[in-house]
Amino acid sequence: MTEPAEVPDGALRVAAVGDVHMDQDVVGRYRPALASLAERADVLLLAGDLTRHGTPDEARCVATEFGGLDVPVIAVLGNHDYHSDAEADVTAILKEAGIEVLEGAGTVVSTGRGRIGVAGVKGFGGGFAGRCATAFGEPETKAFVHTAERSADSLAKALRALDCDVRVALTHYAPVPDTLHGEPLEIYPFLGSHLLGEAIDATGTDLAVHGHAHAGCERGTTPGGVRVRNVAHPVIRQAYSVFRVERQ
Ligand SMILES: [Fe+2]
Ligand SMILES: [Fe+2]
Repeated sequence: MTEPAEVPDGALRVAAVGDVHMDQDVVGRYRPALASLAERADVLLLAGDLTRHGTPDEARCVATEFGGLDVPVIAVLGNHDYHSDAEADVTAILKEAGIEVLEGAGTVVSTGRGRIGVAGVKGFGGGFAGRCATAFGEPETKAFVHTAERSADSLAKALRALDCDVRVALTHYAPVPDTLHGEPLEIYPFLGSHLLGEAIDATGTDLAVHGHAHAGCERGTTPGGVRVRNVAHPVIRQAYSVFRVERQ
């Protein structure tokens, strides 16, 4: 697994990867590239789908691979991490390994060059402006849309509450359609929600990182101009990407 190029100057440095889909056969694939992480980044974000089926055994593989690093590791879960209805156990195993798991919450990493605030939610689908589901009709449809609304609301609250120099939104589902190019149009409503993008735009966020769209592309922007990056491993094809974020 290759390492990204070093960030040359004094900006805050955010490393991120998603969709590592760990199981026994993946253990050891990322670790060599993570050994030099502190030289390249101030924090590592894991953008969900850390496991294949959300089992505690797979979560222990995540803990082995991403625990005990020399920079703080902050994660959100993805839809795969919920599949076995064991997300609480998965979260506990990651936390025990020192990996902070965010769901509607934020945390601040202090560095010598400033404080990086990270707020995270898994997020949910629903689609994008002009092509999205609305809370109309059957209760199942309303429940689907309300789930996305609650997730976006909790992201906005967590972002707003951060006391920091740069603000980063971490989600599994995509906040914009830009980073889905390459995915079939028909599944966009299951890949993200514009409500997440609205939360990001409403809160002075500097960078948004997500995963989930394995066949998407890396770069996008919210309607408000915030940089969005799809860090799903099949997209970035390296152990992690590093983004420099300048203090405002
Ligand atoms: Fe995935
Ligand atoms: Fe996913």
